[in-house]
Amino acid sequence: MKYMSVAVDGPAGSGKSTITKMVAEKLGYNYVDTGAMYRALTFNFLKNGLNELNEEKIKFLLSNLKFNVKFIDRKQHVYINEEDVSEKIRTAEVSKFTSLFAKSPAVREFLIDTQRNLAESNNIIMDGRDIASVVLPNADVKIFLTASVEERARRRVLDFENQGLTNVDYEKVKEEIKARDYQDENRDIAPLIKVESAILIDTTSLTIDQVVDEMIKLIKCKENF
Ligand code: DC
Repeated sequence: MKYMSVAVDGPAGSGKSTITKMVAEKLGYNYVDTGAMYRALTFNFLKNGLNELNEEKIKFLLSNLKFNVKFIDRKQHVYINEEDVSEKIRTAEVSKFTSLFAKSPAVREFLIDTQRNLAESNNIIMDGRDIASVVLPNADVKIFLTASVEERARRRVLDFENQGLTNVDYEKVKEEIKARDYQDENRDIAPLIKVESAILIDTTSLTIDQVVDEMIKLIKCKENF
């Protein structure tokens, strides 16, 4: 059986994960969050005292860990050495180091088969930075989500505030987003790019529901083929 695959790429704060998750729920697809996989490996590197890009040490740590992704009630869980780390990987520290370790060829090679295999056994919608360009170049639908850096920073600040954090510095958040954009767009391997065949959706002045509806429309068109 051929399953539907939808690739969603875009920069940090473009609304990717929120929107992709909602689209997956509405369509009954699995939402594959590749960022969580990079975060989980980074979490493990930091736990082992590695905080610089050292390919030899990365390879050593990768060869000694057990990595697993499971879907429970269609929700993705990421395991390192049997421990579910899905919640622990959402810190600012892990975010910062993940875009550093995502440059490592060993890290990218380590994850690509897992990501491709997930698209073999279910209808999936997968988000990340290199999904349409590298992981699933033959995806049925390819979408590139973006928004202005100011709007993305505003959303991040709101996220932090909703988590109970006060006094979040908007300018600092904006600078951190810019730094992550730079790292993600300028690395040698699998940089963040919009492939020609991807449909661009600028979410700056759209509501979440408007983007969700637009994506569902695009996917439904292809489902009927
Ligand atoms: O989407 P996110 O914020 O959870 O992603 C965390 C980092 O992982 C991000 O800075 C870039 C990296 N990443 C990547 O390089 N390739 C992907 N497919 C997904 C994420």
